[in-house]
Amino acid sequence: MNGHFAIAIDGPSGAGKSSLARRCAEAFGFVYVDTGAIYRTVGLAALRRGVDRRDEEAVKSILPELAIEMRYNDAGEQRMYLNGEDVSAEIRLPEVSLCASDVSALPAVRAFLLEMQRKMAREHDVIMDGRDIGTVVLPDAELKIYLTASAEARAERRLKELVNKGVETSFEEVLRDIRYRDEQDSGRAAAPLKAADDAVTVDTTEIDFEASFRVFCAVIREHLGLLPREERA
Ligand code: DC
Repeated sequence: MNGHFAIAIDGPSGAGKSSLARRCAEAFGFVYVDTGAIYRTVGLAALRRGVDRRDEEAVKSILPELAIEMRYNDAGEQRMYLNGEDVSAEIRLPEVSLCASDVSALPAVRAFLLEMQRKMAREHDVIMDGRDIGTVVLPDAELKIYLTASAEARAERRLKELVNKGVETSFEEVLRDIRYRDEQDSGRAAAPLKAADDAVTVDTTEIDFEASFRVFCAVIREHLGLLPREERA
């Protein structure tokens, strides 16, 4: 390859991909790339401009005007910029999640964002999460993990996160959004969510974050021969 390691993590919304990937990045010294944030930024741009998010030509027409940048602050956090504005908080709003799922079904949007993701993997040791990382973006990744959990378990965790952020919502609403996105992300023709043939599946329905992290460490050790930094001699 190019001298860099890549770990691809795919799975449905709310399975814990980003928290686990972030934690592994810290523990192993990888750069964490949250590709959902990039789709969210395009979704936000479409929402702000009032374009029909399912109309490929309409969304395509705004792409040349979008300067999307991923920057890392001193704490190693990924921040998203849309035409120079930091939109990292706004892209987490529930309505933006739905827009992101809509625009991510459009092949023109996926093609527009592909090179940006691959470039990160060429330049850094990455742990990258999304829906098609192991299948399309980095098919040669050294390790692919498919992270999943039941829709109810995912909705419960997402609800907690949203309530902590002060967003008013209910379990039913969150579960409905998760099911909508599951169907749309898995059912679309363009790069649908699915496990790569050579992915290791990790199901977190019955295990908490710490136990999931231990599973990840074991899988990384087994497949890449790497230990977390604190356990290295
Ligand atoms: O991971 P997330 O919830 O932040 O992603 C937001 C949406 O973007 C999700 O509904 C599917 C889409 N997405 C995608 O299609 N491909 C990716 N690699 C990452 C996200």
